[in-house]
Amino acid sequence: MKTIRSPSAMTTWSDQLHREGVVIGLVPTMGALHDGHRALIRTGRRQCDALVVSIFVNPTQFAPTEDLASYPRPIEQDRELCRTEGVDVCFEPAAGAMYPKGFQTLVTVPAIARRWEGQSRPHHFAGVATVVTKLFNVVRPGLAFFGQKDYQQCGVVRQLVKDLNFPIRIVVCPTVREQDGLAMSSRNVFLSTEDRRIAPIFFHALQAGRQAIENGLSEAASVEALMRKVIGGEPAIRIDYLAVCDPTTLEPLINIDRPAVILGAVRLGSVRLIDNVHARSTHGSRQHRQGLAARED
Ligand code: PAF
Repeated sequence: MKTIRSPSAMTTWSDQLHREGVVIGLVPTMGALHDGHRALIRTGRRQCDALVVSIFVNPTQFAPTEDLASYPRPIEQDRELCRTEGVDVCFEPAAGAMYPKGFQTLVTVPAIARRWEGQSRPHHFAGVATVVTKLFNVVRPGLAFFGQKDYQQCGVVRQLVKDLNFPIRIVVCPTVREQDGLAMSSRNVFLSTEDRRIAPIFFHALQAGRQAIENGLSEAASVEALMRKVIGGEPAIRIDYLAVCDPTTLEPLINIDRPAVILGAVRLGSVRLIDNVHARSTHGSRQHRQGLAARED
């Protein structure tokens, strides 16, 4: 496995492989790799001829009050995981190489980034969209792999790929969970023992919401109230948002008459957790079936 630090050396490597007709995959990460990243890497390995993992703790997606300085950086461990999984290149640029002095340009994807994470972390998605655009320009992959856990981020990336004409296929891989249901995240290491014990309640609440929708509850407000009740039993968990949304626009639904995604964010001590689940409304499918039947009549 090669380690490349300079963006221009990274592009030279990719251009050479393109000339040989090699399909390059990219797994963009901020390091502190866990089994969720491992699943992205394994999917990338299966679907591409050559695989690049970028490890870059991107400063522009952190607000000054957030955890940029303390974000975990176990680089040797990360390289070892990449080596074991057969990654071809670890791309590890320095912050100064990605954002040289005088850097000005930001990529923003306003509509899909507006709510949820965008509201709680106002500059976050401009930082993500900017660094992902830069990584795409530097690495020039044919496919890029992202985790469903960051659902809104996946929407932002899909939109920018479409709007900016990147010839890249975005592959979204399912969320990888601990045995008790907690979604894997690099920040889980910061949970205290007690907070780690209660953290899965967040996922239980999302599951309860999904179950209610699948059992026929069709008012988003009632589903949200139900999820709040599940979490309410645990005062250490502070809810940031829990919302039943359209899976594409991420706008909140009032009536759940079509497939939906339930998005959530909570705080446990100093750690912020995000997660999501898809839910298929029985009302939607019944209405959909009735619509089809009416058209056939
Ligand atoms: O999901 C992440 O780890 C980051 O937001 C990403 C996509 C690597 C951009 O810094």
